[in-house]
Amino acid sequence: MCGIIGYIGDKQAQPILLSSLSRLEYRGYDSCGIAVSSSGIEVYKDAVRVAELAKALLQLDGTVGIGHTRWATHGEPSQVNAHPHLDCNGNIAVVHNGIINNFQRLKRQLIGEGHNFVSETDTEVIPHLIEKHYDGNLEKAVEAALRDVEGSYAIIVLMAGEPKLVAARKDSPLIIGIGDRENFVASDVPAILDYTDRVIYLEDGDIGVVTPDSIKIRRHGKEVQREEHKISWSVEDAQKGGYEHFMLKEIREQPKVIRDTLGGWVSVAEPAVDLAVMRGGLESMLILACGSSYHAASIGKYIVEELLSIPVRAEPASEFNYFTWTLAKTGAIAITQSGETADTLKAIRRLKGVGCPVLAITNVVGSTASRIADQTIYTRAGPEISVAATKSFTAQLMVLYWLALSYSKVDIRRLADLIMGLRQLPGKVQQVLDNEDIILEYANYLSRYKDVFFIGRGINFPVALEGALKLKEISYIHAEGYAAGELKHGPFALLGSDTPVIAIVAQDNTREPMLTNIREVKARGSPLIAVAEEGDEAIKELADSVITVPRVDALFSPVVNTVALQLLAYYTAKYRGCPIDFPRNLAKSVTVE
Ligand code: AGP
Repeated sequence: MCGIIGYIGDKQAQPILLSSLSRLEYRGYDSCGIAVSSSGIEVYKDAVRVAELAKALLQLDGTVGIGHTRWATHGEPSQVNAHPHLDCNGNIAVVHNGIINNFQRLKRQLIGEGHNFVSETDTEVIPHLIEKHYDGNLEKAVEAALRDVEGSYAIIVLMAGEPKLVAARKDSPLIIGIGDRENFVASDVPAILDYTDRVIYLEDGDIGVVTPDSIKIRRHGKEVQREEHKISWSVEDAQKGGYEHFMLKEIREQPKVIRDTLGGWVSVAEPAVDLAVMRGGLESMLILACGSSYHAASIGKYIVEELLSIPVRAEPASEFNYFTWTLAKTGAIAITQSGETADTLKAIRRLKGVGCPVLAITNVVGSTASRIADQTIYTRAGPEISVAATKSFTAQLMVLYWLALSYSKVDIRRLADLIMGLRQLPGKVQQVLDNEDIILEYANYLSRYKDVFFIGRGINFPVALEGALKLKEISYIHAEGYAAGELKHGPFALLGSDTPVIAIVAQDNTREPMLTNIREVKARGSPLIAVAEEGDEAIKELADSVITVPRVDALFSPVVNTVALQLLAYYTAKYRGCPIDFPRNLAKSVTVE
């Protein structure tokens, strides 16, 4: 997820582009750039934050320009990979938010036709395609270029000598801001709210042709009308997409994040990626991480053990650094949203030191983890602003399912069922999100307690750990996640009417023992909220309250259960008036040991 902006009017474009970009940095902030056109196109870009770029920039003259703030997906954050990207002659500049899936094929084709490429990005094919199709009409050349492109895009095109901006979108948001003798194009409302509150939302397939005093929208070559909207939000509200907190916005983005992270890969055929850690027949696997990522790693242990039938250890990276045993025929995976967590980086270096290949799963392209690991797979969660990990956690699970299914040993029919289940997950998660009213009610109830237990078994034991961590870190309630079978070995002593228990009950071989544990908890007077599948009538008899989640294969139950617990933690913290996005004493990325 990147932020793009375009300005055309009677004012100098540079200061407007820079201030709008700083309003879009919540969408990505690893590099940025602008292009301004007067006699020709001048581009200035670098792997820095917008404020630094502004400091280093001399005045670029021109009243039309485009800008971009980046969240790298293809090509590390660097000056050459930053946007805008140009065609061969530097006459066409493009900024892009989205992913061009067929860029490698297009790039090979264009190089064969004599085009020179300078970056590793997918985006750079767009200005070259426009150049290829240009015959005097810019918007027609853009239409033709986009017919060659597969994937998602919101783009703004600037051409030397052309007093217009051409904008287009497919599966990425794009708006036009209406001014007085000036107009704006942007990824999102926050970019333009300082200048206008009048916007038009482009629809997929629309092409906008914008001049200082006109806006024309074409679709399939014909002109169409789009409704004008008046925005009443503050800039900060708009950055949160109208949500009160980034955390709720990020929780709600998860269906899209699942689709983006799985990308087009959902097939039975062959492994999507050739992983060094999987070569030569793996005998065991080690998954390392910290915090929420460690809980994803722990769920990964169950997924890989079930699908590959090899022993898997999931270890907190901070503890792994004291292990002395050696590794033979072991593949190692390090999971880290930020890619900068010191304990996880130390563990990666330690593994490499003993010749163990390491695969990193991270959300940040160009992060240290992606540099020092042997291979990297990126989650496509986009920037996660709220300190509490939510969408990044779910994206990590998607990569673990993808990996394990790619190398699984299960029979073809089971594999096909699981692939179908994975395809349906965005819809199932949406059902959990649509069912939040009941969660709100239980959150209000939970918000008055000081101590809470979360219990689960099997693949949902780490879900209990994650549920407790979410509640702890944003509501400041002392919460413990526990293997349900372990409660009777001590924690039972803490149970009673002032210690609620949240029990995660899945439709697998853990269900009966979980029902027994629930009876034991009830017998000791603790209020009990169960998280259980729709249609599970027995649980309604036993529990005081039930959060129902949609029916999924037990292997996928951690996904729907965790999203329900994220919402429970969020609303509990909201009832307690906590600073949800930036809780005390925590940081989004822990870069010290
Ligand atoms: C989770 O909500 C926290 N932000 C924290 O536990 C986090 O998961 C941990 O610091 C690991 O971060 P990483 O995934 O960036 O390595």
